[in-house]
Amino acid sequence: MPSTIVTLKLNGSERELIARPSTTLLNALRETFGLMGVKRGCAQGGCGSCTVLLDGRPVVSCLIPVVTVDGSAVETIEGLADGDRLSDVQQAFVDLFATQCGFCTPGMIMSATALLNRKPDPTRQEVTEAICGNVCRCTGYEPIISAVLTAAERRRGARVEPVEAEV
Ligand code: FES
Ligand code: FES
Repeated sequence: MPSTIVTLKLNGSERELIARPSTTLLNALRETFGLMGVKRGCAQGGCGSCTVLLDGRPVVSCLIPVVTVDGSAVETIEGLADGDRLSDVQQAFVDLFATQCGFCTPGMIMSATALLNRKPDPTRQEVTEAICGNVCRCTGYEPIISAVLTAAERRRGARVEPVEAEV
């Protein structure tokens, strides 16, 4: 099968690439567009480190042939900050020490961002479910859950103090 021209709305900008049928969205993002914040972990759909937003929904980009998402909007971790200003979820991850080695962090933040965009007032259980496809080997998850809940509270303007991690 021949290569195809694929158009993506990538972090708000129209971008094109020439893709083979076997080119995954993950490979296109990293190798064609140089977006190294999209991490390649298992490359089998099991770790969530390659999570991006596809038309607003979190997906594992390693399982998606890029030719099947022609015309879609794709958002990666590189598209979240506004210049030097981190997104609210990114800032909460910093404030709550929710990242250690950082390998899982972009995927975690994209899953959390999708959740808060869809549901500004999630329960702890809903946060847990939203990140259940994202594997973290370092943090034990509690700081991550607390960061997402803190970002949600800040977004709602309810209060500004961080939510303490459970121990
Ligand atoms: S690299 Fe895509 S799920 Fe692990
Ligand atoms: S911070 Fe290291 S894997 Fe999550």
